[in-house]
Amino acid sequence: MRTIAFRGRPRRGACRLTIRIIALVLVGLGPIGVAAQDATPAAEGTPTMEGSMTSEPIGEVDGQAVDLYTLTNANGMEVTIMTYGGIIQSIQVPDRDGTMANVALGFATLDEYVEGSPYFGCITGRYANRIARGTFNLEGETYRLALNNDQNTLHGGEQGFDKFVWGANRVADSDGIALRLSRISPDGEEGYPGTLAVDVTYTLTDNNEIRIDYHATTDATTVLNLTNHSYFNLAGEGTGSILDHELQLNASSYTPVDETLIPTGEIAPVANTPFDFTAAQPIGAGIRDGANEQIVIGRGYDHNFVLDRPTPDDTSLIVAARVTDPASGRVLEVSTTEPGIQFYSGNFLDGTIAGTSGSVYRQSDGFALETQHFPNSPNEPDFPSTELTPDEEFTSTTIYTFSTT
Ligand code: GLA
Repeated sequence: MRTIAFRGRPRRGACRLTIRIIALVLVGLGPIGVAAQDATPAAEGTPTMEGSMTSEPIGEVDGQAVDLYTLTNANGMEVTIMTYGGIIQSIQVPDRDGTMANVALGFATLDEYVEGSPYFGCITGRYANRIARGTFNLEGETYRLALNNDQNTLHGGEQGFDKFVWGANRVADSDGIALRLSRISPDGEEGYPGTLAVDVTYTLTDNNEIRIDYHATTDATTVLNLTNHSYFNLAGEGTGSILDHELQLNASSYTPVDETLIPTGEIAPVANTPFDFTAAQPIGAGIRDGANEQIVIGRGYDHNFVLDRPTPDDTSLIVAARVTDPASGRVLEVSTTEPGIQFYSGNFLDGTIAGTSGSVYRQSDGFALETQHFPNSPNEPDFPSTELTPDEEFTSTTIYTFSTT
């Protein structure tokens, strides 16, 4: 096991600089066990615990070693991330009494992820969500992808970004403890054009935030839609249903879908439907509304919500969603630079999977909030574009902030 320790939250510019320099030196030292020493003593009342990052080997996939990284912040919040699929395997956060629980659904072992996971915690790409009939036109060429979701392509295809082992590097970040995962996706992988260099940086801050920064470049025009597919249960994974969690979405419209969960192209208002989460309401309130065709088609919620932005091309970081578990008091806030968010109420969890702590996951035992561009955008010219050209740089940021009420 390798350990790097950083002192808790820096309080002044000079201190931040000290930490940045120490972190840079440590990155240069590579995988040697070294603890950073900050000459500035912690002031009274500030966290004294040190944030840290450790890693350990957890197995192999296709002959490639897979590591599990554990990021811990000054408050004791702990996140584990696998280099396989960039999967967030667990997130330990306190409830209102300080009791920790793992709020991320997942598996206990690497093998279970490899054998078949409903995208627990993973980086999803190249195209998160669905592309109708697995085909799209780009610059006069027609591209065909694997059909892995009936007649459509879902989450990148047969071997999406969730099924590769990513390179991992600790990076210097004065805001927290940062792990950068990267890979080169070759031209033609899963049928997509362009060699794509992609990295995803997970930063755990002392504000109990998991910040995810996506970055990509391509050598030929392509399409791209990246997200993280974590499922949450704020009472703790394996404790049962999330239907009493209260959800608020910063979205006054959404994209209705056809029977195969492909958007019809319409942008519909949520007002007076079970899709209206503009004010917080329990997830379960409208989830069994059989009179609503979209609830029936989705078997609950499995829809892209259009985030309310000042202008359609605004990419500022805004709060997209807030979820509260009234019982534990845990709160999750999701902020993003993306135009949409898929709210998925765990409809396909069917009791056939036992999760990290051994409990069986049934329908609605977790929810996902996948920040994203809209599904099937390559075939919908009126949706925000998912094209990436060689002279552009793709960047996107999503932050999960945990607190209590
Ligand atoms: C996404 C999709 C769902 C489902 C899950 C994985 O959220 O929209 O329909 O496929 O991934 O099970």
